[in-house]
Amino acid sequence: MRILGIESSCDETGVALVETAAPGVPPSLPPRLPRLLAHALHSQIEMHQAYGGVVPELASRDHIRRVLPLTTQVLKEAACTMHDVDVVAYTRGPGLAGALLVGAGVACALAAALGKPVLGVHHLEGHLLSPFLSADAPEFPFVALLVSGGHTQLMRVDGVGRYELLGETIDDAAGEAFDKSAKLMGVPYPGGSGLAKLAEQGDPAAYKLPRPLLHSGNFDFSFAGLKTAVLTQAQKLGPQVMELGSQIQADLAASTQAAIVEVLLKKSMAALKHAGLKRLVVAGGVGANQELRRQLNAACAKSDVRVHYPELHLCTDNGAMIAMAAAMRLDAGRQQAEYRYSFDVKPRWPLDSLV
Ligand code: KG4
Ligand code: ZN
Repeated sequence: MRILGIESSCDETGVALVETAAPGVPPSLPPRLPRLLAHALHSQIEMHQAYGGVVPELASRDHIRRVLPLTTQVLKEAACTMHDVDVVAYTRGPGLAGALLVGAGVACALAAALGKPVLGVHHLEGHLLSPFLSADAPEFPFVALLVSGGHTQLMRVDGVGRYELLGETIDDAAGEAFDKSAKLMGVPYPGGSGLAKLAEQGDPAAYKLPRPLLHSGNFDFSFAGLKTAVLTQAQKLGPQVMELGSQIQADLAASTQAAIVEVLLKKSMAALKHAGLKRLVVAGGVGANQELRRQLNAACAKSDVRVHYPELHLCTDNGAMIAMAAAMRLDAGRQQAEYRYSFDVKPRWPLDSLV
């Protein structure tokens, strides 16, 4: 079965085609994971940079412009036509309402025209299952650290649709902490990867920044206070903080990254211990951070924990993770694709409410 996936929840238009195992594979063989046939992505980052953040109306209009050409590109790469698609999947939420409506509307219109069923996917479930697209795919159960621009959560994952929230941020997400701190250092939106680049030349111990809720005894996070501390430090240091290539800028970037990474690392290790599990999955845009990966790899090796990440290019939003999540939900029998084209979207949608 071939599943077309469309992602349009924020500032990336992503389309992908995934194939599930052919029906009739003998049950004696180990279950095969769905396979990515092709994917294509258009990032709107450059367009939003002029405004310092995502402008929802511009995001929706750009999704409209990109989604069909990307679909044509994916089908061509996979040497398929629209008639080879069995299910059309789309991101139903969470995300920007107008942006979600573009993907949902196009997916339902395509499916209705072809007489094929549709399936709405939870964006965070896409991130969560994206490591199953990597060469080193995980196995259930595991603890997941979901770190994106809008969410920071630790989940216990026992299977597709079997998610238990262990803790989450009570204010800003880790990606937001990266982005807002980066802005203070003159790094353009979204800033996370730019700040990480600056941090490579800096001293992570140069400035003392808070590690919020590190000793809270639970798995919740808080990053709003850290952003304020970075702002106070930046004001003390003066305009050199914005000067590209200055040591002060690199040191503040490295100190900020160190604070975020330490909290994510220690809470993840504590969550693994609490859950009694030896497998960690890291997903979402911040999962691309090399310093986070380096420190998690070292801590996990020490504690005999296996750690899995999505391929670097699939850490941030993409269509492959949406097609993959749809395929895995269908394979696991958690959801049926439906011939119902009266779509709705869910801008707010807690992941642990999924079944
Ligand atoms: O998962 P994602 O693409 O979007 C959401 O669903 O929110 O995550 C985007 C976030 C942004 O905050 C971006 O700055 C951050 O991921 N990010 C990074 C890196 N690459 C992307 N943060 C730190 N280091 C990186 N290398
Ligand atoms: Zn995302």
